[in-house]
Amino acid sequence: LQIIDFNKRLKTWYIQNHRPLPWRETRDPYKIWLSEIILQQTRVAQGLPYYERFTETYPTVSDLASAEEKDVLRLWQGLGYYSRARNMHYTARQIMTEFGGSFPSTAARLSKLKGLGHYTAAAVASFAFDEVIPAVDGNVYRVMARLFGIYTDILSNEGKKEFTETAQQLISREDPAIYNQAMIEFGALQCVPVSPKCDVCTFRDMCYANMHNKQSELPVKLKK
Ligand code: ADE
Repeated sequence: LQIIDFNKRLKTWYIQNHRPLPWRETRDPYKIWLSEIILQQTRVAQGLPYYERFTETYPTVSDLASAEEKDVLRLWQGLGYYSRARNMHYTARQIMTEFGGSFPSTAARLSKLKGLGHYTAAAVASFAFDEVIPAVDGNVYRVMARLFGIYTDILSNEGKKEFTETAQQLISREDPAIYNQAMIEFGALQCVPVSPKCDVCTFRDMCYANMHNKQSELPVKLKK
């Protein structure tokens, strides 16, 4: 299957099936960053009200930077992993003092900020700035492992490299942001961990796992 054809099918699926989530209707790197930090540790349904409260209380990175840490942590209550809130607050201040209030616009520079790992930096660069860089989270590992029959351990360095290279080839050059949202959403809604409904999947005629009945074996995730 050609990559262009793959991207067409993925995009069509996304347009017909995606959930209308507020961080998909903005190009504001601050809000996208916040959503990705919340979603690292929390399901969408549980994270949504926190996202809404946070963006109402602190609509801009400048508002977050001016806040008191204890107020930020109070708003975070219930989400857990407080270091993420502390890092966000720290980074918001750094963006004000060192970057004049503007987010760096590439994943390479974003990933130098505290609390932004490779995935989060790629997600912000792609969704806010249209950088052609794959944002590969757990959902996306699963989708790629099944589609292409990749048996490399997703937790190994070799696996990370192989999946990143595969993703770099697949990503749409025209629409990298939609591509990344679509891969994440496809993993979250269609290519789910247990009992995916492969008989109605748009990729059923090309998916390695479906054709070989290996859905439950992929992705390979060895214990650390
Ligand atoms: N999980 C991580 N990032 C996400 C996003 N942008 N949309 C939905 N779920 C996500």
